[in-house]
Amino acid sequence: MTASLGKLRLGVNIDHVATVRNARGGDTPDPLRAAILAEQAGADGITAHLREDRRHISDADIDALMEGLTVPLNFEMAATDEMQAIALRHKPHAVCIVPEKREERTTEGGLEVAREENKLAHFIAPLRAAGCRVSIFIAADKRQIEAAHRIGAEVIELHTGAYCDAHAEGRLKDRDRELKALGEMSAFAHSLGLEVHAGHGLTYETVKPVAAFPEVMELNIGHFLIGEAIFLGLSPAIAEMRRLMDEARA
Ligand code: PXP
Repeated sequence: MTASLGKLRLGVNIDHVATVRNARGGDTPDPLRAAILAEQAGADGITAHLREDRRHISDADIDALMEGLTVPLNFEMAATDEMQAIALRHKPHAVCIVPEKREERTTEGGLEVAREENKLAHFIAPLRAAGCRVSIFIAADKRQIEAAHRIGAEVIELHTGAYCDAHAEGRLKDRDRELKALGEMSAFAHSLGLEVHAGHGLTYETVKPVAAFPEVMELNIGHFLIGEAIFLGLSPAIAEMRRLMDEARA
């Protein structure tokens, strides 16, 4: 097995703190407060997805995060002119381009890079020129990885949703096939010089095999942690995830 390429970073996605806040339309719970607690509990970065419909994170949340965080912000966004302008105004540490459909409950699949290569290459160029690390959220698929590399992305984030869904539904053969693809495609992307991240749907039960892939440098985890925080509190929930990641990496 390839030696691990360094400490595995944990990015905590705080979107669903905003979901709970928005259920009542007031100011609480505050995503920035959650982000600061997450930093203190060992998060290496904070991830937030400003969706076109603003169903969770708001523009004001992004302002507050840019102002108040001491760890890097990974700003998730769709490839639209509106989002590009917001990213260029804030210049966050990282911008992760995700597909977005208005009717979906969550980001269902990876981005179709191969078919949109020219458009995406032009889209990410100003973001890179502004100093943002551009990451592309894609399925564990060789065609998409090659296309992400060709358009000049520095990072890919592999979508772990299919693996996690198969695990949750007890489809063990599918789970193992998805996991194998994630491992092989992490190595392939790394061989092209891309930094590899992974995320979506990860839980205490599913995190370790992904964390064990030596080429994976960062995991972005949100929904499960925010849910677990109801029972354990946010800091212990994050600390346990951190412990499992470190154990898998050791
Ligand atoms: N990574 C990306 C690119 C995502 O879009 C999301 C969900 O917003 C996540 C990671 C985190 O997924 P989850 O909330 O299921 O942990």
